[in-house]
Amino acid sequence: MSRFAYVNGTYARHEEASVHIEDRGFQFADGIYEVIYLYKGRLIDTEAHLDRMERSLREIHMDMPMSRRAMMPIIKELIRRNRLRTGLIYMQVTRGSSKRDFIFPEDTVPTLVITARRGAAFDPNKSLQGMKVMTMEDMRWARCDIKTTALLPASMCKQVALDAGYSDAWLVNKEGFVTEGTSNNAWIVNAEGKLQTRPPSHEILNGITRKSIIELAQKEGIEIVEKPFTVEEAYNAREAFVTSASACVKPVTQIDDKVIANGAVGLTCEKIAKIYADFLEKA
Ligand code: PDD
Repeated sequence: MSRFAYVNGTYARHEEASVHIEDRGFQFADGIYEVIYLYKGRLIDTEAHLDRMERSLREIHMDMPMSRRAMMPIIKELIRRNRLRTGLIYMQVTRGSSKRDFIFPEDTVPTLVITARRGAAFDPNKSLQGMKVMTMEDMRWARCDIKTTALLPASMCKQVALDAGYSDAWLVNKEGFVTEGTSNNAWIVNAEGKLQTRPPSHEILNGITRKSIIELAQKEGIEIVEKPFTVEEAYNAREAFVTSASACVKPVTQIDDKVIANGAVGLTCEKIAKIYADFLEKA
C-alpha cells in the first residue's frame, strides 16, 4: 500500500513528497515537531500535543501554521488515506523556504509536513521487554524544552549507545543528574520505593505521556516525587523505565553495567503500564 504525506496543502505520495532545498528546516533545523500516538483509531492527548506545538513555536518566534480547527481534518484525512488504525502522526513545522541567511526572514510561509506511519498497539502484557541504557554526557543545547527538529545530538548519543550494545542512552548533565532519554522521559522507583522523575525545566522535553502518567498515577494513589536523580541513584533504583508517545511505557532493566534490582520488570512499572493501557482503551 502506498503511503501519503501532507505537505503544504497537498496529500502527496510519501516517496514523492518533498520540500525545497532552501527550506530553513533543512538549512538551519529551524523548525519544531510533534508526535501523536494513534491508538486503535483514537488520537491520544491531541490537545496537549497541540498546546506544546504552539509553545515550541512561540519560543522560536513563530505562530501556528493554521488553526487547530483547520489542522484536525487534515490529520484525520491523512489517517484515512493511509488506512491507519494504530501508529504515529508526525507533524513538522519550519520557518519556510528563504534565501540562506542566519537572520529570520520576514513574510515566509511556514512549511507544514504531516506524516503517518503504522505502529504497534501498546500492550503491557506483550510490550514490557526490559531494555539496557547507557549513560553519557547530555551534549544537547540549553533549550531542550523546545521540541526542535535539531535532533543530531540525540541521534549521535543513541548511535553511541547502540554501537556499545545498548538500546538507548540516558543523558547526564554537568552536575551528574540524569536529564532524560534521547527521545523519552526517564523515571525510577527510588531506593525508598517512591516513583521519581525530574520536574519540567529547560533541560528536558515536558513529555505529554509523562504528564498523563503523573495524573493517572496520582488518581490511583501512587505518590510521585518530581526531583532530579543522579546516575548513582539510578544504579541503586528498585526500578527504572521511560515514557514517550511512541514507546508509551518501557522498562529499563540495566543502566551501564548495573542490572536494576534483579533484572526483571518491576511491579510499579507493570502497574503504570496497565494504568496507561486502560487510559488508551478509554481515550
Ligand atoms: N519523543 N524527551 C524527548 C527528548 C523526546 O524526544 C520525547 C518524545 C519525550 C517524550 O515526550 P512525549 O511523551 O510527549 O512523547 C521526552 C518523540 C516520541 C519522538 O521524537 O519520536
